[in-house]
Amino acid sequence: MRVAVIRHAHFNAAHRLFNPAWSDEKNRQVFGKCSNPNYHGHNYNLEVRVTGPIDRDTGYVIDIGMLAGLIRTEVEDRFDHKNLNLDTEEFKHLIPSGENIVVVIYNLLRAKLDHKYDLKVRLYETERNIFEYPVD
Ligand code: NI
Repeated sequence: MRVAVIRHAHFNAAHRLFNPAWSDEKNRQVFGKCSNPNYHGHNYNLEVRVTGPIDRDTGYVIDIGMLAGLIRTEVEDRFDHKNLNLDTEEFKHLIPSGENIVVVIYNLLRAKLDHKYDLKVRLYETERNIFEYPVD
């Protein structure tokens, strides 16, 4: 029997959608306000879903405190109150779109999670703009 455990987390970060291979004009055309040179911020909400078997000894799928700690060290400490374009290794050469951010977060968590677990990450850039990886 497999059960999903879901943990919510949160971070604030600034970003700018910008493709350095394009002119400023093309960046403006494609990305609009999201490409403003002085960056803008989002309150990112994160939903991390870990699915696995219930452990007989603990009754847990995963210790939620351990999962919370993993999200803190891998995601919040890395990205909270940062400028994603300027302050992070992950987005120095990768456009920090919601799509790319959710994949980066998935990969960071996946690398630290036991293989018995399935993982799914959902990133809310705003209430209305939501990104999910992997897809069903
Ligand atoms: Ni944005």
